[in-house]
Amino acid sequence: MGTEGCIHGTAIIASSAVLGAGVTIGAHTLIGEGVHIDDGASIGCNVVIEAEARVGRSVSIDGNVIVREGTLIADDVAIGANSVLGQRPTKAKSSTLAPSGILAPLRVGEGCQIGVGAVIYAGSEIGSGSFVADGAQVREGCQLGRNVIVGHAATGENDCEIGDGARIQTSAYITALSKLGKNVFIAPMACTTNDNFMGRTEERFKYRKGVTVEDGGRIGGNAVVLPGVTIGKEAVVGAGSVVTRDVAPCKIVLGTPARVVKDVPPEQLIYSVKSECRHREGPSAMQVPSFDLTRQNRELRDELMAAIGEVMDSGQFILGDSVERLEEAIAEICGVKHAIAVANGSDALYLALMAADVGPGDEVITTPFTFFATAGSIVRVGAKPVFCDIDPKTFNIDPTQIEGKVTARTKAVLPVHLYGQSADMDPINEIAGRHGLTVIEDAAQAIGAKYKGRPVGSLGDVACISFFPTKNLGAFGDAGMVVTKDDALAERLRMLRTHGSKKKYYHELLGINSRLDTLQAAVLNVKVKYLRGWIEDRRSLAEGYDRGFAPAANAARRPVSPEGAYHVYHQYTIRVPHRDAVQEELKSRGVGSTVYYPLPLHLQPVFENLGYKLGDFPESEKAAAEVLSLPIFPELETCEQEYVLEQLCDILRSYAGR
Ligand SMILES: Cc1ncc(COP(=O)(O)O)c(C=O)c1O
Repeated sequence: MGTEGCIHGTAIIASSAVLGAGVTIGAHTLIGEGVHIDDGASIGCNVVIEAEARVGRSVSIDGNVIVREGTLIADDVAIGANSVLGQRPTKAKSSTLAPSGILAPLRVGEGCQIGVGAVIYAGSEIGSGSFVADGAQVREGCQLGRNVIVGHAATGENDCEIGDGARIQTSAYITALSKLGKNVFIAPMACTTNDNFMGRTEERFKYRKGVTVEDGGRIGGNAVVLPGVTIGKEAVVGAGSVVTRDVAPCKIVLGTPARVVKDVPPEQLIYSVKSECRHREGPSAMQVPSFDLTRQNRELRDELMAAIGEVMDSGQFILGDSVERLEEAIAEICGVKHAIAVANGSDALYLALMAADVGPGDEVITTPFTFFATAGSIVRVGAKPVFCDIDPKTFNIDPTQIEGKVTARTKAVLPVHLYGQSADMDPINEIAGRHGLTVIEDAAQAIGAKYKGRPVGSLGDVACISFFPTKNLGAFGDAGMVVTKDDALAERLRMLRTHGSKKKYYHELLGINSRLDTLQAAVLNVKVKYLRGWIEDRRSLAEGYDRGFAPAANAARRPVSPEGAYHVYHQYTIRVPHRDAVQEELKSRGVGSTVYYPLPLHLQPVFENLGYKLGDFPESEKAAAEVLSLPIFPELETCEQEYVLEQLCDILRSYAGR
């Protein structure tokens, strides 16, 4: 048919016909399969366009039209309200809509434009004034608001909700179940995810979690946002970032994993975001805990539950594959050949001393400013702890004082990497080498820390790690690990943890029962993947505290991290005068804090027989009176940290000069 012809209503146009440009087609027409409708045609309401049709540029189609699958619709086509385009794919397993193709009709609002080759499934709703560019996909159940732009080849998966004015740029991918607020901007190639199992199991559909981007949120090009993450109102994700956890409103995050780098300047905000901190209802209502394990577990709940379920189904509860996998992961983090999983960190120390043949009559040099287990394990093997004071700057054993403690009975030196920072290992190893001492690292608090580029755990002969629930990598109960590069020590340790036996029911050594539960290993195998990111989060929180304390520098002494130390901030521990009173005041203002440790080990009643007295280790005693550990855990929010700083600086100001 030539240009500007007119087909009156209720006509039937045969398959494969070609309708010329500018043609007008009346209402209720049935347009046969494969018909080509040239540019500028105008089609009335209630029309059916059968499969494989081609609809040219600037064609206008009135409401209630049905366009069957395989149709290509060119630029500037306007499709009226209540139209249905295409069909739902039969294999859309992930859809939450009813099976077998009974879907709500597609609704396309007035003035929408749909580009050539765009695929829009039934059950979607596209608000008026929106634009779906060529090659874009809008899957079933997707709700697009008004004036939304879905760019070239971009995808909105099924059941997404996309607010008014949102822009999804070229090739961006929004996974099923995601929710984008109003005026959200998603840059080219950005991608959200909703499947923690990355397609490994059919079960994954049960655990999918979409991403939420609140009003005005912006995601830069090539960024990836992980399942279940919320990007707060007006927050910005820098290009190329991988966002692993929620981003607070108005924060700019960057990197892999993404971390807060600064705030969005107020003049750039289109929504007002005032006091969006969900932990703060009023100036005095905020409660900041010392640590909160529930936040991390909530984030990982599905993954953890699946791992626990697998153990339950396997019937293996002691050692086994999960434990071996964990041993490999920890050996790698510590840069050593062997890791031997045991029941807890205290047993790790006990077994390491046993493996190193430390026993009655031997002395072990260690610090008095540590958790009880460090010295308790020495006494458990029948040896004597010989204490050596700490360096007041780092709270770790002072290497310059070690040599003076060495006697003919000294068998080992046991430095502790306290609060997550390595002891000064070069001089310790040098002294140990000269005196033939075994070096046992107590790395209970420091997994992932480094000393001059080398990981803790690889710095001595053998090292001990704790996975107590509050540690940087924490289990759902007690768990520990011994690591070593020494083949012989590793073999002894494997025997010692199972009653000294290599072959079942044959016992060559006097060992103990200290095997790791498979359940704990399964939990730790989930968490260990996140450890590096959590450490980085702790380090950026520590930087935040450092910055915040700068003005109060005279009152509070910040932790010192010497050159070459990669501190993992198991604790962020400051020194404050009037510590107990300051802690009480913080508590009354809703801020939790902890004292690690209020009484050094040489003054503990149980060690009275060692003959030490007050004044023997002045730096440890002074530290015990002054240290205060502030809330630090990866899920601590910036607004909570700001509150801690605000309150603490205020308290310290009131104590200044007293
Ligand atoms: C320095 C230090 N050593 C040893 C341990 C003992 O570890 P666990 O509690 O796993 O027995 C801990 C744990 O608190 C610790 O902090």
